[in-house]
Amino acid sequence: MDLTTEYLGLKLRNPLIIGASPLCDDLNTTLRLQDAGAAAVVMRSLFEEQFDAAPNPAADPEEPEGAVGYPFSPEEYLRQLDRLREQLAIPIIASLNGHHPGNWISFGRQLEDAGANAIELNFYQIVTDPTVGSDAVEIDMLRTVGDLTKSVGIPVSVKVSPFHTAMAQLATALELEGSAGLVIFNRFFQPDIDPDDVTVRPHLRLSDPGELLLRLRWLAILSPQLRGSLGATGGIHTAGDAVKALLAGADAVEIVSVVLKHGPHVISLLLRGIQSWMREHGHQRLDDFRGSLDLSHCKNPAALERANYVRTLQSWHH
Ligand SMILES: Cc1cc2nc3c(=O)[nH]c(=O)nc-3n(C[C@H](O)[C@H](O)[C@H](O)COP(=O)(O)O)c2cc1C
Repeated sequence: MDLTTEYLGLKLRNPLIIGASPLCDDLNTTLRLQDAGAAAVVMRSLFEEQFDAAPNPAADPEEPEGAVGYPFSPEEYLRQLDRLREQLAIPIIASLNGHHPGNWISFGRQLEDAGANAIELNFYQIVTDPTVGSDAVEIDMLRTVGDLTKSVGIPVSVKVSPFHTAMAQLATALELEGSAGLVIFNRFFQPDIDPDDVTVRPHLRLSDPGELLLRLRWLAILSPQLRGSLGATGGIHTAGDAVKALLAGADAVEIVSVVLKHGPHVISLLLRGIQSWMREHGHQRLDDFRGSLDLSHCKNPAALERANYVRTLQSWHH
């Protein structure tokens, strides 16, 4: 059975990629992920802010309260990439997080020289300034992608937020700026409110499969519109979840929470599950069914669009 797929121009042995996270901070863990079947890994992100502020508070014993401690300085990140490159046979995707054009973008070239096979650019941002409009946000995004893609020879994918007014137009514009693929979608960590202490608390909660639905809709909508690759991230916990993302048009799926919860061996279980689903449905190759429920192939496209909204509301029965 052929699980190979092409993602960002890279040939992958199967569609399961380890998403950006601390999972690649440790070489042994990363080797276990590869042995369990991971087809590629994405390293955790380096942040635009790390290139402006020199000293790393993580290394400073007198770290002021509230300061951000970055696990890797840019130099340490390159060293880690180098270590992973030496030991791993699968593609390594580096991750940058930034949304304003600037000097930090030139670091992409160093990631390429250190052996990254691709760069995932994460636009994790919460725009709270009332004087900043959506056009200004998107112009900055497009210029950032354009500057990065022009400065490197490896593919660049863009991990986007679902909270854009005109997602389809933005996705196309990102592609015109040179992005080789989109990763759908960033998952925002929501702070919680503690009513006893009356405080706001940062809250790191792992995902659940319900979060996949938003991704499925947009994968299905964007898949026929884009020429580049689509990666799914957010809420993929079972083989069935991975199959759904592929049916909707994903070329690869990124997993984090399920691996943090169960450990690297879960990857082999997911792969076996995908294979047994393919066997049951008579598919030999991933390409036989990938995208078969996207907006252009789905027999009921209204189910993906607003037209179904009213019907869905009416379908509730006590
Ligand atoms: C502990 C943790 C650290 C993460 N760090 C990053 C990061 O550095 N960069 C990034 O783009 N995403 C990061 N993510 C988000 C994941 O890459 C992924 O998009 C998200 O967890 C949704 O996938 P999942 O449902 O499989 O967990 C992190 C997630 C977790 C749980």
